[in-house]
Amino acid sequence: MTRPITGTTRVAGIIGHPVTHSLSPALHRAGFASLDADWAYVAFPVEPGAASLAIAGMRALGISGLSVTMPHKHDAALAVDRLDDASVALRSVNTVSVDADGALAGASTDGAGFVAALAAEDIAVSGRRVGVIGAGGAARSIIDALARAGVAQIVITNRTPAGAHAAASLAPTIARVGDIDDVATCDLLVNTTSVGMGDDPTMPMPPELIRPDHLVVDIVTFPLRTPLLVAAAARGAHTVDGLGMLVHQAALQERIWLGDMPDVTAMRDAALRELAERGQ
Ligand code: ATR
Repeated sequence: MTRPITGTTRVAGIIGHPVTHSLSPALHRAGFASLDADWAYVAFPVEPGAASLAIAGMRALGISGLSVTMPHKHDAALAVDRLDDASVALRSVNTVSVDADGALAGASTDGAGFVAALAAEDIAVSGRRVGVIGAGGAARSIIDALARAGVAQIVITNRTPAGAHAAASLAPTIARVGDIDDVATCDLLVNTTSVGMGDDPTMPMPPELIRPDHLVVDIVTFPLRTPLLVAAAARGAHTVDGLGMLVHQAALQERIWLGDMPDVTAMRDAALRELAERGQ
């Protein structure tokens, strides 16, 4: 049960622009309820360039935790007092918490959330060869986490080659830049681009490159069954949608804020209910 808001309720929220369609309030409300935590979670629309003001406002208002999304993740890394290993490597923060000494701590749970989402489906990444399509912020967090999780090799392809080279430098001993044919030689394929999002019927790779022994992950969440995943399933590949990463990065945020892991199944169900209510 969600607790009523009282004078002792602690407040967390998300800063982003735009942020009104974020699934995070539904996810975190369910997570807090599963922990019986007296916490509330709201969306704060924060204009580009205003992240440091918003984060300073945490101290003044006594806000206990912030999720950070586009376009503020880099600015947030500059605004906090300390960073975890992933956010140092990525120069990007998606979670702000308040340490016991009052310092603001930045963390990046996106990549760990990706790995945790696969682990929850009994998919271990250690030793795998991973092909990553795209080299933006999400790709960088996934590449960093995959390297920490012990994958054997990462092949990155991106529309803009410079981005792929920069992403590969996050894991120089195991990552390299290739074309889409190189990516398809891997066993785990991950789309991190926005190709296939919304009404976009296109795919980030030619479907004929997909084999039945491929594991294909698309981190796009709208729609959950992207054209890539539909094509991959039709070709006999195992597919994983983007909701798991979204749920697990949020669950890891709650572990940072509250010290306990919330019920990820309850969070996933809440997100699916919210999507259904929106007709998505
Ligand atoms: P996110 O934080 O979701 O990763 P991002 O940092 O803006 O968002 O990265 C978007 C990624 O999708 C990039 O790899 C981008 O390619 P470029 O680096 O060339 O911009 C990729 N992308 C976006 N639209 C694309 C398209 N139509 N075709 C191919 N790649 C696309």
